[in-house]
Amino acid sequence: MRDAQLFIVDHETPSSPIDPYADEILADPWDAYEKLQDMGPAVWLEKYGMFALTRYDSVVRALKDATAFSSASGVMMNDPMNAILRGNTLCSDGSDHQRLRRITAKPLAPTVLNALKSEIYATAVNVADRLVEKKTFCAATELATVLPVEIVANAVGLPLQGRERMLVWAEQMYNCFGPLNDRARDAFPVLGEMMHYAATQAVRGKLKPGSWADGIIDAVERGEADQDVLPALMIDYLGPSLETTISAIGSGIWLFARNPEEWRKVRDDPSCIPSAVNEILRMETPLQGYSRLAARDYDMDGVTLPAGARAIIFFGAANRDKRRFPDPHRFDVMRNPMDQVAFGTGPHACIGLHLAKLEMVALFFALATRVKQFHIEEEVRNINNTLRGFKRLIVTVDADDS
Ligand code: HEM
Repeated sequence: MRDAQLFIVDHETPSSPIDPYADEILADPWDAYEKLQDMGPAVWLEKYGMFALTRYDSVVRALKDATAFSSASGVMMNDPMNAILRGNTLCSDGSDHQRLRRITAKPLAPTVLNALKSEIYATAVNVADRLVEKKTFCAATELATVLPVEIVANAVGLPLQGRERMLVWAEQMYNCFGPLNDRARDAFPVLGEMMHYAATQAVRGKLKPGSWADGIIDAVERGEADQDVLPALMIDYLGPSLETTISAIGSGIWLFARNPEEWRKVRDDPSCIPSAVNEILRMETPLQGYSRLAARDYDMDGVTLPAGARAIIFFGAANRDKRRFPDPHRFDVMRNPMDQVAFGTGPHACIGLHLAKLEMVALFFALATRVKQFHIEEEVRNINNTLRGFKRLIVTVDADDS
């Protein structure tokens, strides 16, 4: 599959100067998404020479049709990054993809994850007790990081040395997923560090025996994957296993702090927590957009995407599309949007979704019996090309016994 080509689109193709990667739009993208949605099922982004798919129906169609919308030349918005990850689970098609996905998805199946469940719930209770006692803390760095860093990083099995850099690497990796703007360019050196770590530390003898990453090496030794894609395959775990869930948890606290009546509903009936988790992921989709290359000319409800064109698939916009979700900007813990696409859908749907949901549900359960209300003291958004979340989110809690 070729890299994206340069195109000039005809005057009938909806086209827009909107830059979804401008700082102010990354901070608050909803108006821009709505304008793009109202313009058509696919809109040419003049600044980037790529299509934007922002309507729910367009996003789901593209994600489900992997023969028309290819991942094999990468799902990022620039060629250097696409070259780095080419050949891993995320960036492959057809039988290659199925073979790799069988390897990487194996330890993340719900039945296998059961082994981690009690540890996740116990750690959630511990961190909730500790932080409620502290009363004021940073939900982004002290609360949201604990389960991913203490449990998931361990299950992935990376050596302790260098692990503390993983959050910085993952965050900068998601900047590199965007178009080649300054934010992406500045992040490439940090990504180089991550790839070096994957190539030199994620190797037999340094990885925890029996861990998920060690399982990838077993598969390579059995001939199920090529040795030369090993570092890129490691990124299937190193990249999304921590920062995505951390962003989702931080956004959840922010939403509950701003909507105390929704938190009260959760406390009154904790059985609605799984529904609330879906609603958090819908409202504040942690990964806002990946891309695909059109493998052939494709008619998207009257707009033609020519073969070789790149289309950005905005999961975050689809999740706020008024055509699909009535009153889309209202946070409603009872809505239970099972059809939200924060984890994608179709053949590349996230393999980590059960784990991410398990972590979120465990944490909100622990907090629901301990916290009456969250108050935001300070919030600093993380302006990132792909990730949506917070750098800092200082909250004070009213504890149950206060
Ligand atoms: C809230 C947390 C998470 C979110 C929002 C998220 C989001 C996504 C999305 C949107 C995709 C689809 C990509 C596409 O269609 O091109 C995806 C795929 C993937 N995710 Fe996640 N993810 C999360 C957690 C995780 C975790 C915890 C892991 C691993 C431990 C993980 C590993 C992967 C992998 C390997 C793929 C590629 C699957 C494939 O191409 O077949 N993710 N994720």
